[in-house]
Amino acid sequence: MTNKIAILPGDGIGPEIIAEAVKTLECLKQKFGFDAELESATFGGAGYDEFGHPLPDSTLALCKESDAILLGSVGGPKYDQLERDLRPERGLLGLRSKLELFSNLRPAILYPQLASASSLKAEIVSGLDIMIVRELTGGIYFGQPRGIRELDDGQRQGFNTLVYSENEIERIARSAFDIAMVRNKQLCSIDKANVLEVSELWREVVIRVGQDYPEVELSHMYVDNAAMQLVRDPKQFDVMVTTNLFGDILSDTAAMLTGSIGMLPSASLDKNGKGMYEPIHGSAPDIAGKGIANPLATILSVAMLLRYSLNQSELANHIESAVGNVLNQGFRTADIADGGNSVSTVEMGDAVVAALGAIS
Ligand code: IPM
Ligand code: MG
Repeated sequence: MTNKIAILPGDGIGPEIIAEAVKTLECLKQKFGFDAELESATFGGAGYDEFGHPLPDSTLALCKESDAILLGSVGGPKYDQLERDLRPERGLLGLRSKLELFSNLRPAILYPQLASASSLKAEIVSGLDIMIVRELTGGIYFGQPRGIRELDDGQRQGFNTLVYSENEIERIARSAFDIAMVRNKQLCSIDKANVLEVSELWREVVIRVGQDYPEVELSHMYVDNAAMQLVRDPKQFDVMVTTNLFGDILSDTAAMLTGSIGMLPSASLDKNGKGMYEPIHGSAPDIAGKGIANPLATILSVAMLLRYSLNQSELANHIESAVGNVLNQGFRTADIADGGNSVSTVEMGDAVVAALGAIS
């Protein structure tokens, strides 16, 4: 059966890095007989420019009928003044929510070749391999009511609502336990149960789900401590599971431990394993159009797409080893060059395709 993949380049460096990821997909088709049909659509600021909305109906329809979605990045200063509902970020949140992509997997892996790029000492981060499982369609990002209102005394008050229902907690917990089962069987749930009732319920439900996974060693940590432990001794973690907002923050910290946010892919999955795949980094407007962005996070997102949505783990392994090989050969984009020589976005993509070609 032909796999249908929706390609959403988005804004900023999105189109440049997506072009390199598409090259690797085309290479898999030619060399390994991978059967896929790719179709592109506008999204984010580009969607607004073309259709007046960051998530155009035609784009949503394509995403719904596809087996998986590959996304570049969204946003840019040009769109910051738009009314909130038309901003590129809203398109992303809308897609997550409309497709019920509740389980966001954000691995933080340190490639040994890049140990010197980390801001932490090499011994603290070498061998780092963490998986953050972030709840993506609930919590304070989506809770109602929300808004900015005027109080009796005339001043304005901003408000958002942090809510999690038991079934939302249960499904993300299961997702995290399932992942822990195929890793080192250690799961740390991050909450703020010393202050928030939502967290109290979160912890209770996670413990209950844990009874179905007796082999997994479950622990709990308050989010402030987790932020500290991530930079003090990150290798104590295997899988972490947390809410939407805490996961947003902690995953950026975890990403930085690896030296470059330009290396990290992510997956956002629904209950059937259909997913959207995107690099963790943003649209980097400051370097957009310069041809220097690192395409590896997007290329590694293709590997996750193959593994989690299309059941093609062998092809996923090929991509990951090709990326390892180009790093071994010394290819570096500016963000990971540590002051040394660097290659362009296109040269890095070409190197990965060449490395794929060399796999027998
Ligand atoms: C992320 C981003 C998004 C988020 C923004 C762009 C809406 O920071 O994917 O981590 O906050 O979820
Ligand atoms: Mg974020």
